[in-house]
Amino acid sequence: MTKPRLFRLWLALGSVLMVLLIIVYWDNVGTAHFYLHTSLSRTHALAPLPTPGQGEDKELTSDMDEFLDKLLTSGAKQSDFSKKKTEQPQVLAPSKPAQSRMEESVRGYDWSPQSAQQHPDAGQQQAERRSVLRSFCANSSLAFPTKERSFDDIPNYELNHLIVDDRHGVIYCYVPKVACTNWKRVMIVLSESLLDRGAPYRDPLEIPRERVHNTSTHLTFNKFWRRYGRFSRHLMKIKLKKYTKFLFVRDPFVRLISAFRSKFELENEEFYRKFAAPMLRLYANRTSLPTSVSEAFSAGLKVTFANFIQYLLDPHTEKLAPFNEHWRQVYRLCHPCQIDYDFVGKLETLDEDAAQLLRLLKVDAQVHFPPSYRNRTASSWEEDWFAKIPLAWRRQLYKLYEADFVLFGYPKPEHLLRD
Ligand SMILES: *[C@@H]1O[C@H](CO)[C@@H](O)[C@H](O)[C@H]1NC(C)=O
Ligand SMILES: *[C@@H]1O[C@H](CO)[C@@H](O)[C@H](O)[C@H]1NC(C)=O
Ligand SMILES: *[C@@H]1O[C@H](CO)[C@@H](O)[C@H](O)[C@H]1NC(C)=O
Ligand SMILES: *[C@@H]1O[C@H](CO)[C@@H](O)[C@H](O)[C@H]1NC(C)=O
Repeated sequence: MTKPRLFRLWLALGSVLMVLLIIVYWDNVGTAHFYLHTSLSRTHALAPLPTPGQGEDKELTSDMDEFLDKLLTSGAKQSDFSKKKTEQPQVLAPSKPAQSRMEESVRGYDWSPQSAQQHPDAGQQQAERRSVLRSFCANSSLAFPTKERSFDDIPNYELNHLIVDDRHGVIYCYVPKVACTNWKRVMIVLSESLLDRGAPYRDPLEIPRERVHNTSTHLTFNKFWRRYGRFSRHLMKIKLKKYTKFLFVRDPFVRLISAFRSKFELENEEFYRKFAAPMLRLYANRTSLPTSVSEAFSAGLKVTFANFIQYLLDPHTEKLAPFNEHWRQVYRLCHPCQIDYDFVGKLETLDEDAAQLLRLLKVDAQVHFPPSYRNRTASSWEEDWFAKIPLAWRRQLYKLYEADFVLFGYPKPEHLLRD
């Protein structure tokens, strides 16, 4: 071994030791052990890590990646997501006729050939959802902003929806209005990231709502930079490669109705001030508005669903700030063409998907997905909600959310878009 080579090796070892120290003193996550008794994905469509021989720095980082890679892989290699799926196709108990699943297939579907398959078993269903996602990410006939950028080009602040659980090796991308409160609760229980009088929460439902939605509760990717500095992207990529990544989605138009119902039909001070009042000024020709939402409601001043749609379509809206997360497109929240999700759950099949996912993560004995008693927005209401929305607006709105429809296999709502 030549001297410079030896020197580089020492440098590399030094970096690795630093990273190890960081890992050992993993703050906030509660524990330092890295046991990954979870299914791990092998397939990954991320940009390959730097290859050796392209300059000092790259060589060092690739040595480091390799080392961390081995570290994280040891002892966790035996399970493989796709293998497991084919071995245990019966994981989804077919006892429930899954009525909600019907909602997904009632409408004519022009993008994907797989709608004929209405009751695939659970593993097959996941394989299909992921294959639809992958094929449309690769298909240039579907274009949308940010589609072609790489993971490295995603700014940190756009990674704020990716919640990491290092204890089980899980990454969850939360999408507001898609059961995210309960999934965040599950992530808190799994990662033990929140204590209740000194002990970690064990029951998701015991965690108060306001603590669930406090961003300081969760370890998210956007916090990596402050914590791990120049190693943050490497750590993210390694975790993305090794951990099980999941998200939950729902029909995009139904999600919009749901967002409208919860933020504008109920009294919400923050959303009144930030969004409803400006909408009333711009789209309802109201000049003097009360300062509080309760006064506005009692004066009959409420934004209509049409005002809301007009706001979404207004090209000025995003000049001020990006869409609020409750109506921001899933492809902008979760980067599904840059991150190779292992599991794509749907709200329309929430109960089955939740059970299947927890089994897959091997935590089904430890945590149960909380049942939902809320009055969920149903797809069947769509026609009523859109009845007063002009056809031209509906078509523009579809264009705005088309990527979410297509990537996640939701049929184009032809009945709303025809004359
Ligand atoms: C891309 O999508 C379009 C529209 O569904 C389809 O017609 C076409 O065959 C796809 N191309 C490839 C290469 O899959
Ligand atoms: C979020 O939690 C942190 C730490 O527990 C607390 O200091 C902060 O006030 C909370 N924020 C909100 C908005 O409740
Ligand atoms: C807006 O309201 C004012 C007075 O309330 C009225 O004079 C004006 O014509 C209205 N403008 C539109 C476009 O409706
Ligand atoms: C659910 O909400 C809809 C509309 O907001 C309402 O018409 C319906 O009565 C509610 N159902 C229940 C069971 O609360």
